Order: sequence, then structure tokens, then C-alpha cells
Amino acid sequence: MTVTIRLEEPKDYRIVEEITREAFWNLYVPGAEEHYLAHTLRKHPDFIPELTFVIELDGKIIGSIFYSKAKIVDAEGNEYPVISFGPVSIAPEYHRQGYGRLLIEHSIKEAKRLGYEAIVIGGFPYHYHPYGFIGSKKYNISMPDGKFYTGIMALPLKEGALDNVSGHIIFSEGMYPDHDGLEAYDQTFPAKEKKVEPRQAKFEAAASQIDNNEY
Ligand SMILES: CC(C)(COP(=O)(O)OP(=O)(O)OC[C@H]1O[C@@H](n2cnc3c(N)ncnc32)[C@H](O)[C@@H]1OP(=O)(O)O)[C@@H](O)C(=O)NCCC(=O)NCCS
Repeated sequence: MTVTIRLEEPKDYRIVEEITREAFWNLYVPGAEEHYLAHTLRKHPDFIPELTFVIELDGKIIGSIFYSKAKIVDAEGNEYPVISFGPVSIAPEYHRQGYGRLLIEHSIKEAKRLGYEAIVIGGFPYHYHPYGFIGSKKYNISMPDGKFYTGIMALPLKEGALDNVSGHIIFSEGMYPDHDGLEAYDQTFPAKEKKVEPRQAKFEAAASQIDNNEY
């Protein structure tokens, strides 16, 4: 089995969006919007194509990761550029076989090589702690509401990159596409049933969990 990780190309867009849809369907909300996010983010000025990778098994794409620019804004309004990733997805039939790890680690290595300072992301801690991400509270980086959440995590890519920066994180507007086009776009894929599932409530609870750790 040959595993290849390479930059995403236009010919990959549709299959990447199909896999993203499958990976996220009914996972966090009934249905999914992450395939629409992938579809729209590429056109946003904050999109970072040089870090947007696909992973292939014997030439067949089984997953992808998207990166975009974000910024930390301090109390004086100074801005510090960082980057963020998401959506990241592996086709469900290949979950928990180490492919997500290969893809995420590769992208982090490339981000370092290209000179980016730090990555700040939102997600489940258990997905990202394996790569060294830690609650952004450790670096005094809050959400715009001033609160620290366990689901907001940071990883400096250079020694001390976040030591002299504090403030709140602003993710790209490209990460929040308006939903007007979602329904019509989703209808270009095979019909799939939207379901309410217990894990969606867990996600909601996790997303608002305050980080009470002392770092
Ligand atoms: C998240 C995702 C990309 C991970 O890809 P993957 O190939 O399944 O992950 P890996 O097998 O490489 O796992 C690497 C490590 O991450 C952690 N991890 C991954 N999925 C996990 C899960 N469901 N529960 C707990 N830990 C998990 C584990 O530490 C794992 O190592 P281990 O298997 O040796 O314990 C994939 O599960 C996915 O597409 N999920 C649906 C979409 C999604 O939730 N994306 C993230 C949005 S925040």
C-alpha cells in the first residue's frame, strides 16, 4: 500500500468535498456544512493553498486538510498573524488507522518549513493533543468573548513564538461561510438523511467547555 501526501489540485476538489461530506455527516450537527466550507474557503483570500494537502492510498484520495490565515489581536489592537486548519477529514472507512496522523503531522512540518509562527485551532482536544496542541489559555489567547475554552488549542511552530503574544484569536471569515448557498450546493450530492444523534449534543457541550486548567 503506497501512501502519498501532496498538495490539493483543482482536479481533486470534488472528491475532497465528497469525502469531507461523508466524514462530517451527522457528526456534529444533523447533516453537515464542512464540505460547503471546503468549497467556499478555497476562494477566500485567507485560504493557504501551500498547506492544503490530500492523502492518497495507492493513488486514491482518502482525506484532506485545509489551512487558512488567522490572527491574534492584543489589548492595544496589535495583530499577530497565525494560521489555522480545518476542515480536516479522512474517509470514514479509513478512520483510526493512522492516516489522519500522517496528514496532520505532514502539514505541521510543512508549516514550520515555510516559516509560519504558530497554529491555533478549534476542535476536540483528543484529536489534537497527540500533536502537541495545548489549550490556548496556556498562551493567554482567548476567544473574542474573552473566555478560554478547552476546544481552542495552540501550537507554536518556533521556540517561544507565542511567549510574548496574548490577546484573542480571530479565525478567518472564510471559516464561517453564510449558509444561503449550502442547501442548493448539498443537493448536488447524492441524497443523505439528516439525523439528530446523541454525539451532536456531546459536541455542543464540548464546544462551550471552559478551560479551568492552570498552565
Ligand atoms: C479527525 C480525523 C481526521 C482523524 O483521522 P484518523 O485517520 O481517524 O486519525 P488517526 O488514526 O491518525 O488517529 C491519530 C490519533 O488521534 C487521536 N484520535 C483520532 N480519532 C479519535 C477519536 N475518535 N477518539 C479519540 N481519539 C482519537 C488518537 O490519539 C489517535 O491515535 P491512536 O489511534 O493511536 O489512539 C478523522 O477521524 C475524521 O475525519 N473525523 C471526522 C471529521 C472530524 O471530526 N474532523 C475533525 C474536526 S475538529
